[in-house]
Amino acid sequence: MKIIMLGAPGAGKGTQAKMIADKYGVPHVSTGDIFRANIKEGTELGKEAKTYMDRGLLVPDELTVKILLDRVAKEDCKKGYILDGFPRTIPQAQVLDAELEKLGEGIDFAINVDVPDNHIVERMSGRRACVECGATYHIVHIPSQKEGICDRCGKELVLRDDDKPETIQSRLDVYHDQTQPLIAFYTEKGILRTIDGTADMKDVFKTITGILGE
Ligand code: AP5
Ligand code: MG
Repeated sequence: MKIIMLGAPGAGKGTQAKMIADKYGVPHVSTGDIFRANIKEGTELGKEAKTYMDRGLLVPDELTVKILLDRVAKEDCKKGYILDGFPRTIPQAQVLDAELEKLGEGIDFAINVDVPDNHIVERMSGRRACVECGATYHIVHIPSQKEGICDRCGKELVLRDDDKPETIQSRLDVYHDQTQPLIAFYTEKGILRTIDGTADMKDVFKTITGILGE
């Protein structure tokens, strides 16, 4: 099973990708999470990525494609994966296609989690993410059991640096400009499925499992 999660920043890609990964037993691969882990560890990659992420801009394709291809070449991805936040530009999608073609493989579905812009700001300003395992919550919609503490691993929950209001608008602009064209790209390939991402998290998941099968 190879799945791509498409959607605006804050649409719920990560939330759903983690649930899909748990249910179907395939790894959740998020380029955003990989960059954040590198920032936390203070690597060169992290330092470079941070200069773009903090401004709400995309990390350049050359850098992003390399880390993604290295990740999906790992043993645990042999049985498939959920890509969350990749591809985000047409050139990224073309490289992924070409690499998969070499292996005689392909993406099964691109799931477009559709959430209008006016919902996005509210979602992202209320999001809290775990510093350790990356699990995400929402202070109103999906609160952790104990305020400020991750249910999964017990570590601290924080507001992401790029979830500040002034950065959210640039992320949305970048999404419409560079990522939204992927909807037409995957529609043409016949694998796009658009779902209503404004529904309750569990209902969104039900719609997705309806597409992927039990
Ligand atoms: P990334 O980490 O991918 O961020 P993003 O796409 O901006 O998406 P988010 O993680 O903000 O949102 P999400 O859709 O995962 O929503 P979530 O499930 O958390 O990328 C960060 C940055 O890294 C980029 O800006 C870029 O700089 C760089 N980058 C990454 N990949 C790249 C690439 N391929 N190329 C270039 N640069 C790249 O949900 C959001 C909130 O809503 C949460 O609080 C959640 O609890 C809540 N929520 C979720 N579902 C529901 C629901 N159904 N109802 C109510 N609330 C909900
Ligand atoms: Mg995410």
